[in-house]
Amino acid sequence: MYYIGVDLGTSAVKLIMMEKDGTIVSSVSKEYPLYFPNPGWSEQKPEDWKAAVLEGLKELVKDFDATQVAGISFGGQMHGLVVLDENDNVIRPAILWNDGRTQKETDYLNNVIGKDVLSAETANIAFAGFTAPKILWMKANEPENFAKIKKIMLPKDYIAYILSGVFSTDYSDASGMLLLDVKNKKWSKKMCDICGVDETMLPKLYESYEVTGTVKPEIAKEIGFTDNVKVCAGAGDNAAAAVGTGVVGDGGCNISLGTSGTVFISSAKFGVDENNALHSFDHADGNFHLMGCMLSAASCNKWWMDEIIKTKDYAAEQANINKLGENHVFFLPYLMGERSPHNNPDARGTFIGLTMDSTREDMTQAVLEGVAFGLRDSIEVARSLGIPLTKTRICGGGAKSPLWRKMITNIMNMEVERITSEEGPGLGGAMLAAVGCGEYASVEEAAKAIVKVLDVEKPDPELVEKYEKKYQQFKTIYPACKPVFDIIK
Ligand code: XUL
Repeated sequence: MYYIGVDLGTSAVKLIMMEKDGTIVSSVSKEYPLYFPNPGWSEQKPEDWKAAVLEGLKELVKDFDATQVAGISFGGQMHGLVVLDENDNVIRPAILWNDGRTQKETDYLNNVIGKDVLSAETANIAFAGFTAPKILWMKANEPENFAKIKKIMLPKDYIAYILSGVFSTDYSDASGMLLLDVKNKKWSKKMCDICGVDETMLPKLYESYEVTGTVKPEIAKEIGFTDNVKVCAGAGDNAAAAVGTGVVGDGGCNISLGTSGTVFISSAKFGVDENNALHSFDHADGNFHLMGCMLSAASCNKWWMDEIIKTKDYAAEQANINKLGENHVFFLPYLMGERSPHNNPDARGTFIGLTMDSTREDMTQAVLEGVAFGLRDSIEVARSLGIPLTKTRICGGGAKSPLWRKMITNIMNMEVERITSEEGPGLGGAMLAAVGCGEYASVEEAAKAIVKVLDVEKPDPELVEKYEKKYQQFKTIYPACKPVFDIIK
């Protein structure tokens, strides 16, 4: 039998089809536009996701016997606000996870409602990209749209709804809405009231590996599926990526270097960082996790390569970078503001330390290092909570770069393990489908059977020491620039 994983990302949807043992037999990627209608805003059209997924599914199975597909599940970009009216029409473009328009609503939630109330109700505080502040933004700025809302859903849940007609979500993704009581796995009545949301507007909650329905007959027919392809709830992309890299159960760590950059720490016990710098969310294996999220990670390098120095040959640009730990140029990677740990939508990207002899390589190196230092900020928060972090797995487009992996290894002083499959969230989605269809008894069992380590990068003590000094210098730059970000916003 085959299991399909749909990774609904920000730049593209990536679909994979795997056999029970994790062998990926087919994969397809389809891009769609991303809109920045105002500085710091970020939107996509759910209809574009729908078209890409439906076309992608057809392509994915075209050389295979599609009647052998047993199940399908998802890893989806988190926090995005998708709103449907009474006829199930999309009311406005989805407001994405990296959108920074909700500073006012975020301040209201954190300072007027209060961080202690939010944390008690949801285990988290408000960040601009979370869903609840976006709902408040719509209520204040688009009252005519707000009045039409009948269903509120997350990006991957819209796709699941299109495929199955079932209005569902899972606990890991719902955790990022600031409407879920993460510890007790139910919607928070108080948060719904604060946001003017009736619980009937919210999807039914499931564990990520649970079957929610089957693919609708008309869609199944078009793709060539049987009438019994099971749809499983799926997960937020970071939880799905953790499943795909085997970071399940207690005490595992995964770093994702995608459009966003995340540090994901799996935990068997519910726990909250008392300063709420790390998110406290449910995990797709039925447990919990802590997570730090940078809004721009591999996207910083993509911006630098594609938009500024105008090249597609990323490897060639990195080939001559060999003075690790000695760069005088620093880069603050806050091109879309920053979530963890600064929680500041007005933070901006910045080069600092340039001299007449600074080179293009120094600047490329600074971009890669700036992202790694930003991730180290989240690692430091976790270490301050007493979580011993000595090794991590890694996934996402940026993880393909050996140079970037080496920087991360030495900047974090952690062993970095690469997995045989690079398909983090897509593979995780397919694994959740396999569990839902009964191939494996649990997500942990699926991970044990499927996920294999490809190689391990070990820290080099000399480089760790050099990078420690650089990280201490990096840490002084944001506080010094913050007053400027406040002025130039
Ligand atoms: C996590 C987050 C991002 C998106 C990227 O909190 O906002 O990692 O999920 O798709």
